[in-house]
Amino acid sequence: MKAVIVAEDHSLSWDEFESPGVGAKEVLIKIHATAINRADLMQRRGLYPPPPGASPIMGLECAGEVVETGSECSRYKKGDRVCALLAGGGYSELAAVHEGSVLPLPAGLNYEQGAALPEVFATAWLNLFMEAELQPGEKVIIHAGASGVGTTAIQLCRAFGSPCFVTLGSKEKLETCLEMGASAGSVRHEGPFFEAAKAFAGGQGVDVILDPVGAGYFEDNLKLLGTGGRLVLIGLMSGTKTELDLAQLMMKRARVIGSTLRARPVEEKAEIMTQLEQRVWPKIESGEIRPVIEKVFPITDVSEAHELVASDKTTGKVVLAVES
Ligand SMILES: NC(=O)c1ccc[n+]([C@@H]2O[C@H](COP(=O)([O-])OP(=O)(O)OC[C@H]3O[C@@H](n4cnc5c(N)ncnc54)[C@H](OP(=O)(O)O)[C@@H]3O)[C@@H](O)[C@H]2O)c1
Repeated sequence: MKAVIVAEDHSLSWDEFESPGVGAKEVLIKIHATAINRADLMQRRGLYPPPPGASPIMGLECAGEVVETGSECSRYKKGDRVCALLAGGGYSELAAVHEGSVLPLPAGLNYEQGAALPEVFATAWLNLFMEAELQPGEKVIIHAGASGVGTTAIQLCRAFGSPCFVTLGSKEKLETCLEMGASAGSVRHEGPFFEAAKAFAGGQGVDVILDPVGAGYFEDNLKLLGTGGRLVLIGLMSGTKTELDLAQLMMKRARVIGSTLRARPVEEKAEIMTQLEQRVWPKIESGEIRPVIEKVFPITDVSEAHELVASDKTTGKVVLAVES
């Protein structure tokens, strides 16, 4: 099969690579589309190695058709249109993945739209609803609101009844996020978000913060949390080291939750996917929630696609179409 190979100088090529074997509980997917995640940019530079046992090829998600199933698989059969959450291996023609990480492609979606779903929907669902136990009516702050994860989180908040405030990089992105359902927001290049977020939070503070930014936002995040608030750290784009006012944490009975998706056991991923299928897939099929796609590139243009993601100019996902 072909896959995106990373050379020593970090350049990329679409080249021959060994096809994956299919385990008893795995399905083999012929990939029609995959999508880029921030983590791929780090993996390409050797800063985010795949977890043990995962494919060394980049790519945390895909959509395509089932071409083979392992002996202990029961749900899928050859020809099924699916999308899947991967621990690696999406930037290729074939991926073998545990059956529990695979979902049917929502009705009405093509493969490119399907490839934009698994990683960001699993991340946003896991961290808002499973880790932070978000309840209807609770207030949320979503940092990097126009990112793949952010645009998904906004739509989930709207669909499940939680007002949200976003931070992001431009007025245009803010307009788009407000149209998607955010209540208010702040452009990070125009100054600190604290005052605008405080106006949104009101006297009670916010209940949940979904934060991929880390150190640079930590102090303000903690100030904005209300009693019983939950701050879920899913990324460290501004750095890893910060000071923590333990008194504030304790007096607010607040929780800081660190969370990653990729290295979780297959059973935990299967639970996330089951909840997504039950609670979210019907809303995608009805059109209430949609995949947000900035641009689709042929996978042979993967370098250009990575540059676009790294430019911070994207809203939603950048997808790679895989031609066979
Ligand atoms: N823990 C997990 O399991 C998990 C899973 C998936 C993703 N993530 C994390 O979630 C974040 C979003 O991922 P994604 O793939 O959806 O990203 P994405 O679509 O590539 O968007 C990332 C956005 O973050 C903003 N940004 C970049 N550098 C920043 C900085 N220093 N401070 C503040 N904002 C900055 C930029 O938007 P603006 O210019 O508009 O602000 C950029 O477009 C990433 O940090 C990623 O690592 C974590």
